[in-house]
Amino acid sequence: MTFRPYVVGNWKMHGTRAMLAEARAIDRAAERLIKVEVALAPPATLVHACRKEATLIGIGAQDCHPADGGAHTGDISAAMLKDAGAGFVIVGHSERRADHSESDALVRQKAEAALAVGLTVIVCVGETAAQRDAGTAESVVSGQLAGSLPPSDSPAEQVTVAYEPVWAIGTGNTATPEDVAAMHAHIRDELKRIYGEGGAAVRILYGGSVKPENAAQLLAVENVGGALVGGASLTAESFLGIIVAAA
Ligand code: G3P
Repeated sequence: MTFRPYVVGNWKMHGTRAMLAEARAIDRAAERLIKVEVALAPPATLVHACRKEATLIGIGAQDCHPADGGAHTGDISAAMLKDAGAGFVIVGHSERRADHSESDALVRQKAEAALAVGLTVIVCVGETAAQRDAGTAESVVSGQLAGSLPPSDSPAEQVTVAYEPVWAIGTGNTATPEDVAAMHAHIRDELKRIYGEGGAAVRILYGGSVKPENAAQLLAVENVGGALVGGASLTAESFLGIIVAAA
């Protein structure tokens, strides 16, 4: 199975309705960029509005609660996100793992909840600088994959993995193509171990200081199926630069 490159913008905690113009501009340009699957994960407050503004690109969310509903003040269930127009949800982003002490087991529960209501998931993994320096990057990522990935009968359709080395996020320190190639090959092996042959077609995105200037080089690396983009997805101009590089 071959997939188009998948380029996803994660707006994190940025964006009010004023940013809907960016979503609209990305959507209009995406119409001409049929070689790339494009998606945005705005804050939950903008999912519904983005879905209405942008009709061609994917719209998703940045997190969900593992329960269907209940007394969880401030949380949002996967079904609510779907109802608001989301088609996918990011789970296990390193900022949530760090800010909210999310464990692999919780990330897996969130992913299972999302799949159960028909959303697809982007499961994030990645090592810290200290773990890389200690030579444990691959074992850390193996543990995260083993603990966080949901069971799936069709992993290639339901699950995307995003490799985001924590030290590369928002720092301008992009991983080298060699580091990315080595880690993505390792993740591919783990996906085949976990999902069997179905793991061969799961997309693995790279994330961490992806910009229009380095996107083509990173996306050309074997086993890189696209990019998860933070800062450079906040304006249509820079995000489209990455989308063009992926085409
Ligand atoms: O999820 C995207 C991400 O964490 C990378 O952020 O700003 O380095 O592109 P950034």
